[in-house]
Amino acid sequence: MDDVIGDKATALREIGEQVASCPKCALAKTRTKAVPGSGNPETNIVFIGEGPGFHEDQQGLPFVGQAGKFLDELLASIELRREDVYICNVVKCRPPNNRDPQPEEIAACAPWLEQQLDIIKPRVIVTLGRFSMSRYFKGQAIGRIHGQPKEIDGVLVVPMYHPAAALHQASLRNTILEDFKKLPGLVEEALSKAPAEPEPEQIQLL
Ligand code: URA
Ligand code: SF4
Repeated sequence: MDDVIGDKATALREIGEQVASCPKCALAKTRTKAVPGSGNPETNIVFIGEGPGFHEDQQGLPFVGQAGKFLDELLASIELRREDVYICNVVKCRPPNNRDPQPEEIAACAPWLEQQLDIIKPRVIVTLGRFSMSRYFKGQAIGRIHGQPKEIDGVLVVPMYHPAAALHQASLRNTILEDFKKLPGLVEEALSKAPAEPEPEQIQLL
């Protein structure tokens, strides 16, 4: 159904255009380029990171620095490429010097993320790091809940360590790799639980 695929891509592109000139929080003043997100509008999996870093801000693309390289490896380990999934962030503009995004910035930016998720309607959402995790798992500790899916409003949400954490702490590398290994099975489980409305030509990833 090319028209359906086109519709999602068009809707995401329109959001991207609006995000590029969004004035809704203080990060608008210091960004080089906003980073709306990228990937396959038809995917079953969305990854949500924290916010753009230096390279992302330069290029306008998510996860293109060191953490992104590791994310590519993690995806490859389950035979996915970034073109197969959708990757975005809690805040779309870089916090200066990579400081934490502030609550008011996260709140101002949330409607963009919500619209993206409404369009894509993924079966599985992977949170990378504490800021996206806290959207779904308030007050919980990543050390306790990583890799454990929870069904929220019909979507399986899986909290994972941020790939950058493994760059700082080598022992986390295997933990993240193990958590990623669960993803293909979780997508299958999610698809079998709630069959999509018939879309026979939809590309089924995984
Ligand atoms: N870290 C993130 O959380 N997001 C990016 O896009 C890059 C690094
Ligand atoms: Fe707008 Fe989000 Fe960028 Fe703030 S971070 S200016 S809310 S796009």
